[in-house]
Amino acid sequence: MEQLSFFHDHSLLILVIITVLVGQLMMTLFFNKFSHRLLLEGQLIEIIWTVLPAVTLIFIALPSLRLIYILDEVNNPSVTIKSIGHQWYWSYEYTDFKKIEFDSYMIPINEMKPFNFRLLDVDNRVKIPYETQIRMLVTAADVIHSWTIPALGVKIDATPGRLNQISFSSNRSGLFYGQCSEICGANHSFMPIVIESISPNYFMNW
Ligand code: CUA
Repeated sequence: MEQLSFFHDHSLLILVIITVLVGQLMMTLFFNKFSHRLLLEGQLIEIIWTVLPAVTLIFIALPSLRLIYILDEVNNPSVTIKSIGHQWYWSYEYTDFKKIEFDSYMIPINEMKPFNFRLLDVDNRVKIPYETQIRMLVTAADVIHSWTIPALGVKIDATPGRLNQISFSSNRSGLFYGQCSEICGANHSFMPIVIESISPNYFMNW
């Protein structure tokens, strides 16, 4: 997640540089009366404005490629959780201990408590121990869904007939909210994900 954030800042900086440079060039074109009756070619400038964007793209492509492989790394997970997308709720299975299975439904607006987030809270949260590598196995039972938690840098499709894998960890306690991000039907907006990151001791007691 941190690396994703750094990459975002990096590419945004390049974007700003390009925008300022091109903006400056266009402004000077608008505000002068230069003309050159005999100008037919300019080899040097064409080499510059071909090679410069190519090099710039490499500076974006290489860190991006590195990030793909970092995100695929699994790093000896301590806990494995299986997440199954349904129309329209998530269900979870913890099979490292005795088999724990539960469904996780959004809390409807008319049943909300004052402390609940509208369309974002669920009845059964996904509990994880913090500072622990988690392996998430993601699949779906009906149509394609997507298990997405922006704050943890996790986004992976839940596809029927396939078992996708994603690895993550949380470095603090807290609640992490996410939503399905694959258009999966009428109630696509109403299948949120809530991760409850707690101390490993509390997790083992649970
Ligand atoms: Cu499940 Cu959108």
